[in-house]
Amino acid sequence: MRLVLLGPPGAGKGTLASFLNKELGIPHVSTGDILREEMKNNTSLGQEVKQYVESGGLVPDEVVIKLIENKFSSDCAIDKGYMLDGFPRTEVQAKDLDALLNDLQKPVDQVIYLDASLPVVIKRLTGRRICRNCGAIFHMKNNPPKEEGICNECGGEVYQRPDDNEETIQTRMDVYLDNTKPVIEYYEDQGKLKKVDADRDSQEVQESLMKIFNGDR
Ligand code: AP5
Repeated sequence: MRLVLLGPPGAGKGTLASFLNKELGIPHVSTGDILREEMKNNTSLGQEVKQYVESGGLVPDEVVIKLIENKFSSDCAIDKGYMLDGFPRTEVQAKDLDALLNDLQKPVDQVIYLDASLPVVIKRLTGRRICRNCGAIFHMKNNPPKEEGICNECGGEVYQRPDDNEETIQTRMDVYLDNTKPVIEYYEDQGKLKKVDADRDSQEVQESLMKIFNGDR
């Protein structure tokens, strides 16, 4: 299955991708995770993108497009399908992605648009915590780690992303509305978009997804 997960910050793209990866084994490709890994390792790319990521702005198109090109040309796991999370985020990225995937004969099958409202995403993102080691996602209220600050999955340190504060969340939301909303129309015009109400709890969102995959709606 070849999927794109679209939606505002905090809509639940990473949470859903983790579920689909466990359930269906679809490889998960998150540009946000790749960029944070580069920052953690203090590579030259990590240093270049840090200011954009931490302020909630977009990393320049040419930088993220190159990352995706490298990923798709070097990772054989992608032959089993893919789930893109956080990419494409601009119309330029969407068009370049189509060109790349057409060349590789691996076009996108479906685009899942997780539609979530601002008050919901603010609550989710301000309460989110992430494992520094394995990337497991928690929420201080809905899904806290069993032991404070420690990951249930691997025992790694659980931390709060620096861009998960109210001011930066608002910037990320504005950036999303200006840049990523047109991507939704782009895929709608291709007849590939499926919209899911992502304000609901995780289980309901997952059930809607499975219905879409089973062709029930
Ligand atoms: P990225 O990491 O992609 O961040 P994002 O798009 O802002 O999305 P998030 O990871 O914040 O949210 P999510 O939808 O995955 O939510 P999650 O599942 O964690 O990008 C970060 C930055 O990198 C960008 O700002 C930009 O600078 C840069 N970047 C990345 N890609 C780029 C690109 N293509 N071009 C340019 N720049 C790029 O869930 C959130 C919380 O809610 C969790 O605590 C979770 O437990 C909880 N939760 C999830 N679903 C539910 C539910 N249904 N009910 C209750 N709680 C839920």
